[in-house]
Amino acid sequence: MKAKRTSILLDLHPALTNITGEVLQGLTAQPKKLPPKLFYDDRGSQLFESICDLPEYYLTRTEIGILTSSAQEIAALLGPEVLLIEYGSGNSRKIRILLDALKHQAVGYVPIDISRESLADAASLILADYPKLKVAAICADYTQSVALPALPFTYRKPVVFFPGSTIGNFQPHEALAFLKSVAALLQKDGLLLIGVDLKKDARVLNAAYNDAQGVTAEFNLNLLRRLNREFQADFIVDNFRHLAFYNPHRNCIEMHLQSQFAQTVCIGGKKITFSPWETIHTEDSFKYSVDEFTQLASQAGMVPERIWTDPNEWFAVALFQVQ
Ligand code: AVJ
Repeated sequence: MKAKRTSILLDLHPALTNITGEVLQGLTAQPKKLPPKLFYDDRGSQLFESICDLPEYYLTRTEIGILTSSAQEIAALLGPEVLLIEYGSGNSRKIRILLDALKHQAVGYVPIDISRESLADAASLILADYPKLKVAAICADYTQSVALPALPFTYRKPVVFFPGSTIGNFQPHEALAFLKSVAALLQKDGLLLIGVDLKKDARVLNAAYNDAQGVTAEFNLNLLRRLNREFQADFIVDNFRHLAFYNPHRNCIEMHLQSQFAQTVCIGGKKITFSPWETIHTEDSFKYSVDEFTQLASQAGMVPERIWTDPNEWFAVALFQVQ
């Protein structure tokens, strides 16, 4: 009988212990805020998958289009014996486009994700479909810097794949720190393939975060349901409203949960008071121009190899090399 192939799982035990402190601190801060990583419980991850299929949410569709039409070119630029490292491997649709184009050029796949379950799922699905590929999953919080572990196989070039414009969730100074940590992991000549949502007409942006079916609203409000369940809070979800708008001064979509009137909520034994229309700031999604993003990457010691966009120039997939 043939031995069942397994992947290596390296568990760096990302600490969720401090998150209660982070939640209480955020809700007692002025203005009130919560970290967007809290969106992704099971229900939140499902809702995000639905967002990706919405007609107004052009990001996923556009990025997949760019990856599909440039896959051969990307494969040629990555060269032989590639180690693909994916940050935040929630859904494996995009990595498959690369793996299919790379064929035997990809020797290893290293998904890095904070969620142990989705990481294990992603690793085993890829393992089943790509029989020659070595898979080493790392459970870690990639917003902290991660070192590449010694791997029991050889490769020529590490390539970090960071799709989805997830980089947009970082404040620009955090995005720079993140790019520097990626450069440190990759070292000289390593490659970064990254998806970046671009600046565009505010009407297109506003529609993408205020979809007609209300899925984004549900995704935002699910945060309160999660606080009720996991952090002993008593939010009445109907007393809050989803608010998302493009802020042209900060170049980002801001998402908030807005209290519809004065109210008090209890969480972890603490009372939190809201004045009418007061908000909890739940997410920023920064938008860049190609030039702005290239400059940011150059401050992290990276030079652009190639940048692909869609015909509307709504989204960019960029390949950078560490100097
Ligand atoms: C996963 C951060 C890229 O900012 O577009 C989608 C999250 N929030 N709709 C984004 C999100 C509301 C998404 N990112």
